[in-house]
Amino acid sequence: MLIAVIAGLGGLLFGYGTGVVAGVLLFLAHDFQLNGSMQGLFVAVALAGAALGAAIAGIFADRWGRRRVLLATAALFVLGSLLAALANTVAILFLGRALLGLAIGVASTVTPLYLAEITTPARRGSIVTINQLYISIGIFISYGVDLFFADFASGWRWMLGLGALPAIILLVGMWVLPESPRWLIKQGFIARAEAALQYLRSTTRVTEELTSLQQGNAEKSTRGTSLRVLFQNRKLRRMMTIGLGLAAFQQVTGINVVLYFAPKIFQETGLSSPFMAILATGGIGLVNVLATVLAMRFLDSLGRRKLLLWGLWGMLFCLLVLSAGFFLHLQGMAGAILIVLASAVFVAFFAMSIGPVFWLLISEIFPLAIRGRGMSLATVINWLANMLVAGVFLDLVATIGRGGTFLIYAAMTLLAIIFTLKMVPETKGLSLEQIEQQFISDN
Ligand code: BGC
Repeated sequence: MLIAVIAGLGGLLFGYGTGVVAGVLLFLAHDFQLNGSMQGLFVAVALAGAALGAAIAGIFADRWGRRRVLLATAALFVLGSLLAALANTVAILFLGRALLGLAIGVASTVTPLYLAEITTPARRGSIVTINQLYISIGIFISYGVDLFFADFASGWRWMLGLGALPAIILLVGMWVLPESPRWLIKQGFIARAEAALQYLRSTTRVTEELTSLQQGNAEKSTRGTSLRVLFQNRKLRRMMTIGLGLAAFQQVTGINVVLYFAPKIFQETGLSSPFMAILATGGIGLVNVLATVLAMRFLDSLGRRKLLLWGLWGMLFCLLVLSAGFFLHLQGMAGAILIVLASAVFVAFFAMSIGPVFWLLISEIFPLAIRGRGMSLATVINWLANMLVAGVFLDLVATIGRGGTFLIYAAMTLLAIIFTLKMVPETKGLSLEQIEQQFISDN
């Protein structure tokens, strides 16, 4: 667990790095005279960097190993944070932010990958979900930091610079942690894989596990295959469809709109003081963290599929309530309470279902030989969908109103339910090698 607590820090960089930008933007308009479209670009630069980072992460993780890539990511994050925090020109500011985005993208792919590969089947659900827990904690902390430094002169420098702290801890921590035993076996480094397993399991009696990992690796029908095979081979295409489908659904069901546009929505509904609106947003951030802890508790017992379905139904219900609330133009205290409550419950359902389950499943369903690259592709789609949803939200609201916009998210959630019912398998309790075998013999 302690190992995962260190290795999972990549999730904190992800959550903090994406969450902090809201507070930073408030300053940039003034300190750098950034107009609306330049501010939009500032946000987009990081998201595009993240998509690019996710795209290259898998190739490097498959070639160089998961640990080395995580080390490089942490270093890049420190560099990006400091560059952006100390920037005196717009160019340096954007460069720092782009590097940060790149690091976030790599971390978002490789953190769950590494966690899935170092743990045992019985605990994989909770261990991989440490990544999502950290994402939610990172977002929550970023709200606090934004609030704290809001009145400081050049407070944005602190907001961006503080991100370097967890990155430094990750850098030092990963230095000590071993490489993924599965990756080592794939590369033929059996003695190192044994030593890694001994370190991870805190015992020298790892022969049985080592043998089963070696067997799993030898049996792979997909050894040495390229990513193209994922699309050509019917059996593997199903995995790809699940990964990419969940990647898109995780975003197009609206989570980041609720998380990031919440203060504005709350303020316009009835929480007229900015302080109350920010407080309500902080509450939602906390709900996000707590519900993720619940998910960690149940993913390995109830299973991924059940949680995913229950959560999606819950999200659908909340989105319909929100949509109805906006259509009916509910105002005043009662309206505000309904909107805040429905948003909070929506976030809780997300955090217990498609939030963690997406990252968990993509770390499980790809064969070892192409796990890194398969996860990369799914993560790229996730970032692109994230960008799309954030990019069109305000225009969508201006065209069809909030009620219509949230109805679209509800429709997407219904599609996600149908998709899950038809496509998503249960993977709890199975080893990564068994999952791979099952997919191959299933079809
Ligand atoms: C998603 C992010 C989201 C976060 C919220 C992650 O799983 O990928 O886009 O902001 O959850 O906790």
